[in-house]
Amino acid sequence: MDPEVLKQAPLFAELDDEAAGTLAAAMGTIKLNKGDVLFHEGDTEDRLYVVVSGKIKLGRSGSAGRENLLAVLGPGQMFGELSVFDPGPRSSTASAVTPCELRVLEHDELTQWLTGRPEVARGLLGQLASRLRRANENAADLVFSDVPGRVAKALLDLAKRFGDQRDEGIHVHHDLTQEELAQLVGASRETVNKALADFAARGWIRLEPRSVTLIDVERVERRAR
Ligand code: CMP
Repeated sequence: MDPEVLKQAPLFAELDDEAAGTLAAAMGTIKLNKGDVLFHEGDTEDRLYVVVSGKIKLGRSGSAGRENLLAVLGPGQMFGELSVFDPGPRSSTASAVTPCELRVLEHDELTQWLTGRPEVARGLLGQLASRLRRANENAADLVFSDVPGRVAKALLDLAKRFGDQRDEGIHVHHDLTQEELAQLVGASRETVNKALADFAARGWIRLEPRSVTLIDVERVERRAR
């Protein structure tokens, strides 16, 4: 059986141990170095991936070379399902923020599981539904929230997945550059930096290279509302 982390992926969510072991055995392994691109937006390739270790960013490029990050995924998270269910080009570029290990499932293999085991389909539908909710929320935040509010929300989201509780607060080693953090929030680097510096000056957070410590989580949560 693969590492415990694989069982957190929606694909495995409703499978018993035996079926999960069989499915895991049908998956290949891919290792990426930091900065490697797994696939580009627009590529026609329809495999499904699960992150076992490391961080993957999903980004889109706009006009004038601008980049927007849709998400940063960590261990136990899955991606590539849109091209499986809605055959067409990849909707974003997937690249490695850190060295990564992934499991990959070929389209034909997945189709067999979807036909034979409805619980696999239920797991995938669960992920699609939660991504749609999240995308709606992000769209609303872009209209209704100011940049500091969106920065606070992004920090809390990163803390949920990559945070580590310490005496002084939640240490979040997100591995993102300031530019990537700004792309995730959907604002300019200058505005995002200003918001971060303001939170730090108020004693809510402490900034470190590619990481942040949330010292006063309650205040950050209040700012995110
Ligand atoms: P696919 O379009 O096949 O390839 C890119 C993948 O990025 C896509 O499938 C989804 O798995 C993932 N993805 C696209 N949009 C989002 C989003 N808003 N949040 C998280 N993941 C996404």
